[in-house]
Amino acid sequence: MKNNSKKSELKNQSQKTTIIPKDNPTNADCVILKPAGYPFDFELMESNLEITDKALFEQYARDQWLGMEVNLNTYLFDQKIIPDYAFQVISVEPENSIISEKTKIKIIIDDINKNKEDSVSKSNIKLSDVVGQVNAKNKIKVIEKYLVDPKKFGQWAPKNILFYGHPGTGKTMLVKGLANEVDVDLHLIKATSLIGEHVGDAASKIHDLFEKASKNSPSIIFIDEIDAIALHRSFQSLRGDVSEIVNALLTEMDGIDENESVITICATNNPSFLDNAVRSRFEEEIEFVLPNEEERYEIFERNIETMPLDCDLDIEKLVKVSKNMSGRDIKEKILKTALHHAIARDKNIVDMADIDYALNASKIKINSVKGMFE
Ligand SMILES: Nc1ncnc2c1ncn2[C@@H]1O[C@H](COP(=O)(O)OP(=O)(O)OP(=O)(O)O)[C@@H](O)[C@H]1O
Ligand SMILES: [Mg+2]
Repeated sequence: MKNNSKKSELKNQSQKTTIIPKDNPTNADCVILKPAGYPFDFELMESNLEITDKALFEQYARDQWLGMEVNLNTYLFDQKIIPDYAFQVISVEPENSIISEKTKIKIIIDDINKNKEDSVSKSNIKLSDVVGQVNAKNKIKVIEKYLVDPKKFGQWAPKNILFYGHPGTGKTMLVKGLANEVDVDLHLIKATSLIGEHVGDAASKIHDLFEKASKNSPSIIFIDEIDAIALHRSFQSLRGDVSEIVNALLTEMDGIDENESVITICATNNPSFLDNAVRSRFEEEIEFVLPNEEERYEIFERNIETMPLDCDLDIEKLVKVSKNMSGRDIKEKILKTALHHAIARDKNIVDMADIDYALNASKIKINSVKGMFE
């Protein structure tokens, strides 16, 4: 018989689920389960499970496991329709609590694994495409070395890093460049996409994301707009399920051990919005700053080279007018708008008149920049 070890593991762990605590048992608020299959294999058994109605499953699960103690990673066995089919507890709030009439019970069926290819991002961006951001690039150099040879780092492995700063300054671009150059899987996730319809959806998606990244390690998880799910406590009243999501995130961030070679990079525009416990998990917070004059010059120059029309532009003047602009602003608000303006007028060349139009369109006051059109 196959899977003997799994069977004994299931058996040991299942015993824990049936112990009802004697003193002051706490009711579980939320339990998230994942189908784990039967404790053994034989040909007639089909281990794939499909839940047709999540609310119905919740009622069914609560009825049969009422009063049971649940602990993280233990198993609950179905006693009714598919006897001995196991469900693993992948999240329980609070830990060591019992299932009550009010406990929310959720199940996840590997949504993320089903869309395996979707969340793995590929790009042609190179690290050298990112202008400036010296601090971030230094850190990336370390991560690059680590991903190439994880064993060398042992307990000194980089793990969780926070990128923060102005929008459009190259945070996403840098991570894409890193994954591309080291040729590892990049799991690029917008934090808001982790939030699902039901309580528990986010926690289970976070769990799946980390599980998938571990399976295909070395790999990078990039969670963009992390503040959307890891809100500071003072904002948590705005969203009822935040603490559950924060706990799931903390469990996964702590759970990655040095052998797994998974790097988690999170990004936010404002780190002060972050829950303190989540924020404290980042070994380093790296600020992305707006480009200085020299860097703006380079960003203009590189983008102009790729434009489909010839350009007659005074880059020195463009650098002056773009003070406090990000790389994205330069590309999208100035150059792209100017180019489209020229194309719409059947011009063969993009000139400063098109730039003038773009600046007006983006409400930048030209007069505030001394000497712009002298
Ligand atoms: N430092 C930079 N060097 C070159 N191009 C840049 C730089 N920063 C931004 N850009 C340009 O702006 C675009 C957007 O940058 P990116 O998506 O990396 O910003 P971000 O910091 O992730 O922004 P957000 O915080 O809004 O997610 C890039 O694709 C690139 O064209
Ligand atoms: Mg980004």
